[in-house]
Amino acid sequence: MTPAREPIVQVLLPRDWAAGSLVEDVQRGLGSLPLTLPPKWLYDDRGSQLFDAITRLPEYYPTERERSILRTHAHDIVRESGADTLVELGSGTSDKTRTLLDAFTAAGVLERFVPLDVSEATLRDAAAEISAAYPGLQVEAVVGDFTLHLGSLPRGGTRMVAFLGGTIGNLYVEERGAFLGALAYSLAPGDSLLVGTDLVKSADRLVAAYDDAEGVTADFVLNSLRVLNRELGADFDLERFRYVPFWDPSMERMDLRVRSEVPQSVRVPGAGLELELAAGQEIRVEISAKFRPEGIARELRDAGFEVVRTWTDDAGDFALTLARIPAGTDPTPGSP
Ligand code: SAH
Ligand code: AVI
Repeated sequence: MTPAREPIVQVLLPRDWAAGSLVEDVQRGLGSLPLTLPPKWLYDDRGSQLFDAITRLPEYYPTERERSILRTHAHDIVRESGADTLVELGSGTSDKTRTLLDAFTAAGVLERFVPLDVSEATLRDAAAEISAAYPGLQVEAVVGDFTLHLGSLPRGGTRMVAFLGGTIGNLYVEERGAFLGALAYSLAPGDSLLVGTDLVKSADRLVAAYDDAEGVTADFVLNSLRVLNRELGADFDLERFRYVPFWDPSMERMDLRVRSEVPQSVRVPGAGLELELAAGQEIRVEISAKFRPEGIARELRDAGFEVVRTWTDDAGDFALTLARIPAGTDPTPGSP
């Protein structure tokens, strides 16, 4: 039997979050109205564990829907991609990705797996588990930010970039355009993207998925304030905030906020801020955009991809789209 290879782990983020872009993000987001926080700061160790718990909630359908698409179509995806390197952005535990890795392994074509995530501990654990489970596979994990570090992805071979879970919906529409454009620029002709998108559905089901009975999602979103307390010495009192999720039908997105229950002052010394919050004032912590298949296809084409195929689950809740950089696209500095 081939012995498991040790995963290689490349760290592109500063280990001290406060030394990185957290300070700038917080100054930008909480320094002017409307108050916002970027969602990548939700995923400290506790946040990553809470997200993992969310994926097992009965109300949170996206994970199981995407898993069922992967189970049914992984072999087609592997064949159509023609890839020998699988890159995964926002990989988390890479749990569902194993279905793809199994199909790649069965086809005998995969040489490298490159998971990339901001959450270092989760990424290291996942990389070690995958190395042990897939002997012979070179795992090259990257602790990085998919909005900043696409140019540093390993090159060579034919790559398929998986961006699962609907995480693309956590980007604002203009960030999505910039992200897809930067990704297309970093890929070579023949490389592909497999992107998971949660589809527009009834407001009731959407709100239930983000307002679970156990309160795990509330804990996850409020955890962003704990991160600011720890990293920037802020004094948010979590008891004085309430989680308020709602469906925004005009933007077709879930809008996840925390609301100040009382008038209060909050100090965020690490970012040089003193906030005066009125009762009812809200901070938007995350959006989760929902898609229509024709919309995601258009965004992919606008970024320079050609859509190969879209698969949905039986209920039509979630979609996986495979898109490729067409032959004849000018090779870019990101190409081998
Ligand atoms: N792909 C997994 C996990 C989704 S949760 C799934 O489908 O279940 C979103 C993941 O993206 C988390 O692991 C989080 O740490 C990571 N993430 C969020 N913003 C990121 C960013 N800007 N760069 C890299 N990873 C990010
Ligand atoms: C990671 N991402 C796709 C999740 C979502 O559904 O937008 C994050 C999440 N936030 C609250 N619940 C789940």
